[in-house]
Amino acid sequence: MVEIFINDKKFKVAKNTKLLDTCKKNNIYIPTLCYHPDFPGFAGCRLCVVEVRKKNESKLVAACEYPIRSIERFYTESEMVKKSRRMTAKLLIARAPEAKEILEEIINEKIEPEFDTLNVQNKRCVLCGLCYRLCHKQGTAAIYTAGRGADKVVQTPYKDANEDCIGCGSCVAICPTGAIRMIDSNGKRALWYHQFELLKCPICGEQHITNQMLLYEMQKTGLSETELSICPRCRREKMGQEMLRGICHEKIVTVK
Ligand code: SF4
Ligand code: FES
Repeated sequence: MVEIFINDKKFKVAKNTKLLDTCKKNNIYIPTLCYHPDFPGFAGCRLCVVEVRKKNESKLVAACEYPIRSIERFYTESEMVKKSRRMTAKLLIARAPEAKEILEEIINEKIEPEFDTLNVQNKRCVLCGLCYRLCHKQGTAAIYTAGRGADKVVQTPYKDANEDCIGCGSCVAICPTGAIRMIDSNGKRALWYHQFELLKCPICGEQHITNQMLLYEMQKTGLSETELSICPRCRREKMGQEMLRGICHEKIVTVK
């Protein structure tokens, strides 16, 4: 165990625990944008910086990737931290002006834009990498980054419909700024240059799953087509009813 101080309060933590995890566990808020516990090791946004003070020296570290190894003092709301966060947010706003409000909410501060807006197509994308890292982790790998510097974008290869995309919409769900467009309308889903057919739930008729997604889930989970084509709401209801039947049956058996 290592003894550390966060905002002058003492904590005992296991060696090599990440600073962000310690803060989360102790309800100390650190703004994050690119961090996700399922795919760590990215540390791209720098919104999570924390000041580490050692004797007369101070430095900023990314809390999401900083392993606690020795007695150290951390400050999560010092002037140095706030200044850095503000600057990071301003740079992100220059790339993604439509994400301004979300960034302000994350860092809990109003931001006055300082830099000229970059001429990028997607004015909401902050390049946090969550969408394509999730897509790759789940094994579909349909989206990537293309270009460098100011020209860097998240895309499908050649800006075209990619056969690897199953139309699951996980990228849309995980994106913190709502930068990916997915439109479900008239039984079709438009996503990443694709028009996917949406299949109906056999119970309520809701069109909720693409054929590609169904096949992917069948392979991954071993569940049948019938089971997977039932929408999540009906599945929950069905499970609830089955559990209830089980309880009633148990009671009848006990009473007998
Ligand atoms: S599209 Fe969204 S999730 Fe993907 S990199 Fe941009 S902001 Fe992050
Ligand atoms: S959350 Fe730590 S660098 Fe992005």
